[in-house]
Amino acid sequence: MRSKSLGKLLNIERTERGAVLTTDFGTLAVTFHAPDTVRVQAWQADTERETFSYALADRPTAPFTVQWDEQAGMLQLKSDELTLHIHKNPVRLQFFDATGTLLNEDEPAFGISWIGHQATAYKTLQPDERFIGMGEKTGNLDRRGSGFSHWNTDFFGYGTESDPLYASLPFYIGILPRSRRCYGIFMDSPVKSHFNFGASNDRFASFTVEEGEMNYYFFAGTTVADIVKAYCRLTGTIPLPPKWSLGFHQSRYSYYPHHEVRTLAQTFRDKQIPADVIHLDIHYMDRYKIFSWDKERFPAHRQLIADLKNMGFQVVVICDPGIKVEEGYEPHDDGVAKDVFIKYPDGTYYRGQVWPGWCYFPDFTDEKARQWWGEKFAEYVQSGIEGFWNDMNEPATWGQKFPDLVEFSYEGQTATARKARNVYGMQMARATYEGTKKLMNGKRPFVLTRAAYAGAQRYTALWTGDNTSSDEHMLLGARLVSSIGLTGIPFAGYDVGGFVGEPSVALFARWIAQGAFAPFFRCHTMINTRDQEPWSFGEEAEAISRNYISLRYRLMPYIYSVFYEASKSGLPVARSLALDNPYDDRVYNTNYQNEYLFGPGLLVCPTESTRTITKVFLPEGKWYYLYNNQPYEGNSEVLVESPLEFLPVFAKAGAIIPMQSLVQSIREAHDGTLYLHVYRHNGSSDFVFYEDDGQSYDYERGVYHRRVIVYQGASHELILEAAEGSFASTFTNLKLILHGFEEEIGDEVLLNGQPLATADEELALLDPLPNFDPLGKPILRVVQQNKTITCPLVKQRMVFKW
Ligand code: GLC
Repeated sequence: MRSKSLGKLLNIERTERGAVLTTDFGTLAVTFHAPDTVRVQAWQADTERETFSYALADRPTAPFTVQWDEQAGMLQLKSDELTLHIHKNPVRLQFFDATGTLLNEDEPAFGISWIGHQATAYKTLQPDERFIGMGEKTGNLDRRGSGFSHWNTDFFGYGTESDPLYASLPFYIGILPRSRRCYGIFMDSPVKSHFNFGASNDRFASFTVEEGEMNYYFFAGTTVADIVKAYCRLTGTIPLPPKWSLGFHQSRYSYYPHHEVRTLAQTFRDKQIPADVIHLDIHYMDRYKIFSWDKERFPAHRQLIADLKNMGFQVVVICDPGIKVEEGYEPHDDGVAKDVFIKYPDGTYYRGQVWPGWCYFPDFTDEKARQWWGEKFAEYVQSGIEGFWNDMNEPATWGQKFPDLVEFSYEGQTATARKARNVYGMQMARATYEGTKKLMNGKRPFVLTRAAYAGAQRYTALWTGDNTSSDEHMLLGARLVSSIGLTGIPFAGYDVGGFVGEPSVALFARWIAQGAFAPFFRCHTMINTRDQEPWSFGEEAEAISRNYISLRYRLMPYIYSVFYEASKSGLPVARSLALDNPYDDRVYNTNYQNEYLFGPGLLVCPTESTRTITKVFLPEGKWYYLYNNQPYEGNSEVLVESPLEFLPVFAKAGAIIPMQSLVQSIREAHDGTLYLHVYRHNGSSDFVFYEDDGQSYDYERGVYHRRVIVYQGASHELILEAAEGSFASTFTNLKLILHGFEEEIGDEVLLNGQPLATADEELALLDPLPNFDPLGKPILRVVQQNKTITCPLVKQRMVFKW
């Protein structure tokens, strides 16, 4: 069998914002979805067409027009932001931006081709073109020269080059350094797919779907951020998470019995290491049966959960999809009665083995089964549980050979595992989110998933599964989370300390510091490994853990605001440097590719636990070393000391970083002062400060506190615009901390024209660690001298001038 590509145009049918082109081999439809987004579909006569997609958020787009211009050899469709050329013989596409610059084109010979039912779109590989994104994919930040598959896979102890892993996020961004342009492509098909970015060839980048329609969206944008936002307009953004879920999570496989859990919680409080969440892994259940409790290990779980809540801890329980085949076990009997499990084509239930033994699996692609699943959480919710960890949802079964012919409802359309597998985990997370949201009386549930497909961000956070305790994995984790962030899931993290194996003291300490700057921050480890709590590695690692976890808690006003932005626009929380500097080669240098911005203002430079001096890349601009304010000119590669107690982190000149006093859990009240850190620059910058109750959906009715903060460097002005929304801020005082001015600010500044006294203050972002130097030298307390200004914080506009 030979491959065959889209042929010569036979007929054009004009559609509302596009065209359907019939060719002598295959049909192509192009549709402008938005001024910057074109959908491309191609099929053969016997291809099964798609009628809906689980990825889409269905957000309406504002009205816009597409100009149609038909010429002899070509049809041109044009919006304000994107021009599409469709060549007629053979039918091939070219995409241009508003300035007429070519962004992307079909490989002229191959275009969209089929081998049997397998469809591939071939794109001409452009000189120096780079590729980023693809979600949870190992390897380098720049995907050029690599190939990947999307097929959700339970991959215990995956390697730093393994593929595929648990989640399928088939979206990438092409970067064209020569023309300084970028574009995005999202191939929306859950069927097993393959992407090739010039791997084993020097001619094309391609994406392949093993069967069904070729269906992709092309995004034009001036910046990478535009493209990520356009992708999130299509596939949705996160709901605001409950604020406690942004705190520190402690997990292991597994904490039990109940008194172990109590001791764990108490140890955090005794040691004054902030934490909000304890995860219960599979041993909380009666023989691993979901929706049950092991009555011996947890005889009074409701009391336990209530007591932990009083201590400021939430409990997250693991929820695996397998329902044990066991008569008399309610979820089994009820599931059979309601017929919610996936089946073989002969109508018998599929059985696979997981932790509880032989299991049936709910069909999360069926509304009825999602409802059923959601309602089953009633007992958990009544027990006070607000967080649900969805695991094994690739789905994982022993033997790892889930049969292709097993059937799923697929919203009544019937699909085999070949099509439903990649959406299974996402639909489980959806059923969990929607079900628990209904049960929780207006409180926000926290859902964590291992498997995902594009759009999963609408329901869940994601973690990167069973990683390994090694430096390479720690650094890979940073890269994975940035990449997952580029593909629409900002709330992501990795098992700090590593799941498989045991970290050294140094590795654990370093990993905790890095994890403090991960959107989702959880320590987790495998069964039968040594203890892996912040105090399990000796005093020094404990002090480092305390320092970095405390710093995260003090950063919470900043972090929550960054999550708010993610919920609005889809911009990631951990931002690969390629987001702002896509055309700078150094961003992709393997020495620097792990660096990222945590929110807009903090540059985090992950580094091995063994490295006491690290060379870091500082992008264009100016940077302040976080711990002592030392300024660095950007556009440079610099050596910085990186002893375990200081992970290299820099604040960006112009950064506006709201912080709070230290608390031991999110629900503990802070001291009422908003500590607003501002880093000197000459330009203009802004930040949206956002607050709400952190737990309900009242913000949807305007019960929030949102305030734009603008810093005009040249005129030495900081403007807190009037606060919007009806939520009363928990902050009543403001302390401005102006970094980088040294002696230049006098004793007074103006607030709305009135003089206000300044103070010189010493500040330490991390506590000193006095006794850990092997040579007996106390380790220096790194302090900064800063000008500060303190005043009441009011809702009205506040203009500071110095
Ligand atoms: C899977 C999960 C892991 C969990 C274990 C036991 O391996 O990835 O996080 O601890 O199952 O539930």
